[in-house]
Amino acid sequence: METLFNPIKINNLDIPNRFAMAPMTRNKSPNGIPGQNVADYYERRAKGGVGLIITEGVEVSHPSSSGYPDVPGLKPEAHEGWRNVISQVHKYDSKIFCQLWHVGAIRKPGLPPEPDVPGFTPSGLVRKDKKVAYEMTADDVENMIEIYVRDIEIIKDLGFDGVELHGAHGYLIDQFFWEDTNQRKDGFGGSIQLRSSFASEIIKRARAKVGNDFCIAIRFSQWKQQDYEAKLAKNQDDLEALLRPLVDAGVDVIHASNRRFWEPEFQGSNLNLAGWTKKITGLPTITVGSVGLESDFIGFYQGMTRNLTWLLWAELYSRTLNGLIKLKKVVTMKLFPFLRSTQRIIINLAP
Ligand SMILES: Cc1cc2nc3c(=O)[nH]c(=O)nc-3n(C[C@H](O)[C@H](O)[C@H](O)COP(=O)(O)O)c2cc1C
Repeated sequence: METLFNPIKINNLDIPNRFAMAPMTRNKSPNGIPGQNVADYYERRAKGGVGLIITEGVEVSHPSSSGYPDVPGLKPEAHEGWRNVISQVHKYDSKIFCQLWHVGAIRKPGLPPEPDVPGFTPSGLVRKDKKVAYEMTADDVENMIEIYVRDIEIIKDLGFDGVELHGAHGYLIDQFFWEDTNQRKDGFGGSIQLRSSFASEIIKRARAKVGNDFCIAIRFSQWKQQDYEAKLAKNQDDLEALLRPLVDAGVDVIHASNRRFWEPEFQGSNLNLAGWTKKITGLPTITVGSVGLESDFIGFYQGMTRNLTWLLWAELYSRTLNGLIKLKKVVTMKLFPFLRSTQRIIINLAP
């Protein structure tokens, strides 16, 4: 239990506890500009005591990035709004990462900012054999990597504590990871290691620009919104092949997105995806997915015996009362080996 409230250091960043708020799109930033309401929203979470806030997905600065209305971006007109968000969060102890998001083939024709711009993708595919979008040329891929890198520099300059690349849920980076949507024959497709190259190249070049101290995270998932049963990695060797290039490129923390956190990832172990990721990479990991139960937190905790169970997951009720954290729900699990092996686990906050 106490582990959840212990600080954690990621790279050189001191995070006051192990609760992280999951990125959640809000569609509250008309013209891509986060207003005062956005700053107030994140401030309420910081005031509630969450250690690490990961923003909603923020559009990569390319006209093909957007797939949904009123999602914030990083154009100059948005900078003042982001500085305001960061300063309101930093009034408290919380840290804040900006999640960088390109929707790839999920983009539908006719969307802003440029209705004629199609979805940009590795192979034009939104899922196996379903071609709906534009296949990026080698120059497009190179250009897109550079745009990501420039955006990460902007994110650092704005004062964010880190960036999280959205590499999950079937969006652009995940479309490179997934063999069903990546049929490229160049260095960005083929083996699972090569399918990791788009992300690892962004991380490597960004690391060279922002230096060693700035936190770079990536979120990935086995499941896709196009296919909940999809598997990037069928076993631990596949997972290692996918993740090793990201580690070598200089990523600091990996956010393993599950739909159900309690599901063991591979046979023969009860480790979930974040657990395996931690075991394979040695990096801090973030877990998520259907966290929350019915039982009363305080009542449960009072009834706990030392060796019966460990509190593993908790959900912070983020609407605070008089600045106090109100814990709403909790679930207990037998101690997972990945918790035993490390204290460096960040637990998801789902407001
Ligand atoms: C309204 C909503 C918006 C979301 N937006 C994002 C997003 O911008 N980026 C992202 O990586 N995940 C996004 N997610 C997924 C969540 O971060 C999280 O992984 C998911 O809700 C599973 O956690 P839960 O079972 O606790 O809800 C969103 C989820 C919801 C419900």
